[in-house]
Amino acid sequence: MTEAPKKLHIKTYGCQMNVYDSERMAEAMSAQGYELTDDVAAADMVLLNTCHIREKAAEKVYSDLGRLRPFKEAKPDLKIGVAGCVAQAEGDEILRRSDLVDLVVGSQSYHKLPDLVARAGNGARPVETEFPAEDKFDHLPARPRQARPTAFLTVQEGCDKFCAFCVVPYTRGAEVSRPAEKILREARGLVEKGVKEITLLGQNVNAYHGAGEGGDWSLARLVRALAKVDGLERIRYTTSHPNDMEDDLIAAHGEEPKLMPYLHLPVQSGSDRILKAMNRKHTAEEYIRLIERIRAARPDMMMSGDFIVGFPGESDQDFADTMTLIREINYGMAYSFKYSPRPGTPAANAKGAVPAEIADARLQELQALLTEQQRAAQSAMVGREVGVLFEKPGRMEGQWVGKSDYLQAVHVKGEGLAPGVLARVRVTASAPNSLAGELIG
Ligand code: SAH
Ligand code: SF4
Ligand code: F3S
Repeated sequence: MTEAPKKLHIKTYGCQMNVYDSERMAEAMSAQGYELTDDVAAADMVLLNTCHIREKAAEKVYSDLGRLRPFKEAKPDLKIGVAGCVAQAEGDEILRRSDLVDLVVGSQSYHKLPDLVARAGNGARPVETEFPAEDKFDHLPARPRQARPTAFLTVQEGCDKFCAFCVVPYTRGAEVSRPAEKILREARGLVEKGVKEITLLGQNVNAYHGAGEGGDWSLARLVRALAKVDGLERIRYTTSHPNDMEDDLIAAHGEEPKLMPYLHLPVQSGSDRILKAMNRKHTAEEYIRLIERIRAARPDMMMSGDFIVGFPGESDQDFADTMTLIREINYGMAYSFKYSPRPGTPAANAKGAVPAEIADARLQELQALLTEQQRAAQSAMVGREVGVLFEKPGRMEGQWVGKSDYLQAVHVKGEGLAPGVLARVRVTASAPNSLAGELIG
């Protein structure tokens, strides 16, 4: 008689790298006889893969832990693990704050998860938050559990930039690039399982410099090699830093049709004074000129970004400069946040805190402008022809949903559509967050 599989429930917070990591942890645990479940009540183990970027994200973990108490009471041998960036940042402090947690595993130690799970329980509460010298990816299987047309692939991890507000250099450690051949092998494996689009991930993905045939490979070189993989139709990468946007990468955008015309390039602020205080090491003007060069290589490039309002010392004029930059660039989509002081970062001790009401008002004003730009970008698509990679059925009978080259959701009714079908579509209508279209030909 074989043992019934145990059930693992994973909740993922934060960025795409956490999504990728959760998949890898699920794969590592499936080798230990754990199957994924969406149902917490059915789980033998719950893993929270956490995010430390803003206070709200980090505190959410503790309220979610509180919500697990009845499940643990109903099933005392339920194991609860905390992984990800809160685990990395807070370590055994988590055990003190919550008696429900059985194990803590930092983001660099996921290959040790099966061992930690085996050790946890009966009073043992293992914590693993080292930055080990070995390559965790060598120990984590990359076997997609289900066929999906899109996948993430981590190529670079960590950050050496130390923006004054940001915890990532501490939670993810120094920049490390994976060797090109390992990435190519993983990509080919994904394509064999039906993946058509790969998003290369890194905290500073365009700082990628991995060992490859003939020496050091840039991200552009990696992209060009990936573009030669038969069956891989689309390549994206995220997140980039303006200072690492090298000429060969910009050129690749003009020359490599598989590289999609959508670029997430955070700037955070349009004020040189604030950029300097943030330690971003570039000016607003340099960012604007950079995007001009990118658009010269790829005129239809859709830009996306991140903004922080209410950074310490931000004046009305600084904020006005950010609004000016946004008008100048014209974003297709963007994320914006109210500054959240993070323990251990240089800005946490900075003078000139912006009162909450002012920061809230600025955030509203900035989001109104970004929403208006996004709406305009969406309606400018009407009448245009665009590639769409279909992912899943839509809500209406016979309707399918996919993503455009510019990462917009597109709804289409048509014959022969299925996950993984890449088709040309004429856009017929737009809404703020999605498009409708019809198949061409
Ligand atoms: N490596 C990426 C992403 C970093 S985190 C980059 O360089 O942009 C994603 C976004 O969260 C950041 O771009 C920033 O806009 C926001 N962010 C980071 N720390 C923050 C903080 N302390 N308060 C508010 N927003 C923050
Ligand atoms: Fe954080 Fe700056 Fe590094 Fe991005 S570049 S991860 S914002 S420190
Ligand atoms: Fe959050 Fe860590 Fe990603 S702090 S944004 S999960 S790198």
